[in-house]
Amino acid sequence: MVAGKGQVSSEEAGAPAVRFEGVTFAWPGGAPVLSGFDLSLPAGEKLFISGPSGCGKSTLLSLAAGILTPQEGDVLIGGKALGGLSGPARDRLRGDRVGYIFQQFNLVPYLSPLENVILPCRFSPARRARALPAGGSKTLEEEAGRLLSRLSIQEGLWKKPSARLSVGQQQRVAAARALIGRPGLLIADEPTSALDSGLGLDFLRLLLRECDEAGASLLFVSHDKSLAPEFGMRLSLPGPEERAA
Ligand SMILES: Nc1ncnc2c1ncn2[C@@H]1O[C@H](COP(=O)(O)OP(=O)(O)OP(=O)(O)O)[C@@H](O)[C@H]1O
Ligand SMILES: [Mg+2]
Repeated sequence: MVAGKGQVSSEEAGAPAVRFEGVTFAWPGGAPVLSGFDLSLPAGEKLFISGPSGCGKSTLLSLAAGILTPQEGDVLIGGKALGGLSGPARDRLRGDRVGYIFQQFNLVPYLSPLENVILPCRFSPARRARALPAGGSKTLEEEAGRLLSRLSIQEGLWKKPSARLSVGQQQRVAAARALIGRPGLLIADEPTSALDSGLGLDFLRLLLRECDEAGASLLFVSHDKSLAPEFGMRLSLPGPEERAA
């Protein structure tokens, strides 16, 4: 595929969904949160990340998405090294290839679920193109509705302001928004923390099913260790005290 203007070329065949190569990162004035850190998430794999509060889970996810940049080493998304990219090019790569479910979901409260789900396609032509089958037989609204249905959001809610939905419903809308346009990498930061454990497991299974169908890889942070057996890969980060020892 030849990349058009403003587009990022397609992912390198066989490249890991995300790869950390000798990454060292410290917040200003702080001790390193990660030091010479290596990680490779093969395409289609799902990684469960746990560890005590403050150990660096959210920092790791921000590095994986190119929101933060390391002081040493590099992060590659779908084989593309972020280190050599300008800020806008990194933003574009993230928009094209990464779906992010934030702990607080970050839905635009006055927009409807349908409008929230479509949002990533407004910023990324690649996501938009992947969301729409060739031949123009489907609209973005239809694709957003399909994802909302798959995540059990009934049609009566699709056009209401998202702020009126329950926490669990908002979380599923956030998942649909992260999945639209089949990003290669899905990142979820404690998305089940507001749910009791039964609902958390239901949500995770929905997410895993959708990842499989989209061929997406998943980085999933949770303190709920009962979810870990659902994953092919697990990573437990050391707490700040262990790191210093
Ligand atoms: N914006 C920031 N500026 C400075 N230091 C930060 C910032 N965000 C996080 N830190 C520090 O980096 C370390 C790791 O924080 P991080 O948020 O990644 O931990 P976490 O494992 O996600 O914790 P939690 O389970 O509480 O969400 C902590 O010591 C924290 O104080
Ligand atoms: Mg965190």
